[in-house]
Amino acid sequence: MRVLVSGGAGYIGSHTVIQLIAAGHDVLIVDNFANAKPTVVNRLEAITGRHLPVQAFDLRDVDKTEHLFAHEQLDAVIHFAGFKAVGESVEKPLEYYENNLGTTFSLVRAMRRHGVAKLVFSSSATVYGTDQESATEDRPTSATNPYGWTKVMQEQILRDVAVADPTMRIALLRYFNPVGAHESGTIGEDPTGIPNNLMPFIAQVAVGRREKLRVFGDDYDTPDGTGVRDYIHVEDLAAGHVAALARLARTDDPISTWNLGTGTGTSVLELLHAFERAVGRELPYEVVERRAGDIATSYADPSRAQAELGWVAKKSIDDMCADQWRWQSQNPEGYPDA
Ligand code: UFG
Repeated sequence: MRVLVSGGAGYIGSHTVIQLIAAGHDVLIVDNFANAKPTVVNRLEAITGRHLPVQAFDLRDVDKTEHLFAHEQLDAVIHFAGFKAVGESVEKPLEYYENNLGTTFSLVRAMRRHGVAKLVFSSSATVYGTDQESATEDRPTSATNPYGWTKVMQEQILRDVAVADPTMRIALLRYFNPVGAHESGTIGEDPTGIPNNLMPFIAQVAVGRREKLRVFGDDYDTPDGTGVRDYIHVEDLAAGHVAALARLARTDDPISTWNLGTGTGTSVLELLHAFERAVGRELPYEVVERRAGDIATSYADPSRAQAELGWVAKKSIDDMCADQWRWQSQNPEGYPDA
């Protein structure tokens, strides 16, 4: 298939591009580089050995999106583009709703006008709200912050589109906590500013960019008192997209929802200690207050994806830490600007 990958220069998008190419697909990346560096594309070309077409624009631009669909033959869209920082979404709710919903409106309108039926959408475990333990896909959705609501709303919009047009083939993929990097160490997550997420923060402590990890609370109702999450290697997550795309080509269901997680929870301290094993030394940390809005435990029930996609996450926590460390140690300051 020829696949438009929105946000294809971002963290999960870039890893998925590699696996799409490996699976025999062609890609067209659209990215406005709001949260990605153009050098990502050079590195993707080095890994894949292919020239990768890129269009740099904001998908909320309806005219540019229409122009693209009018001039390119496309079979499917994987829609990663979007803002994703929980805390920032509380500060800037309008920007989050406008950006995340606006790109989806524009893309789906163009898809329908040009008869492109297959869409894989980046959703999140955040749609399970405060009820994320052993989450199954039929659990009611809700959210606790504007970012989360944009995911809940986009899912609902896509469900409504699928009812109105049953020829659509839409996959809602609910990611748990993506971490790790491509095994080459040349592409990985490169957060702007101070990382919000645990794994990139630990990696920056290990490389000397941050003094110490702050563990947000050790009084949760979990085995060691720290928050438990379902960390999934970004390579496994990317493989889940390729599997979902294959499934859309053979299903009769206009819309399907799949959790992408390992089904196993890991605590903050367990992840820290796994990272210490990868680096070969202890890393400094202190326990501080809980972070507002955090829940104790989140992990997937991934059995539907296993049964219907024939997909299962294969990489261990030690693999995730080893690959994250290779990326961070080879690129201590992230991607270069040019
Ligand atoms: N944590 C720390 N210190 C840090 C950062 C995080 O102790 O510096 C802890 C958190 O309290 C939590 C765990 O590490 O217990 C994981 O936190 P992350 O910020 O890495 O991930 P979250 O589970 O909070 O959030 C992620 C995504 C969101 C998404 C959510 C889905 O970042 O986009 O999962 O539930 F909404």
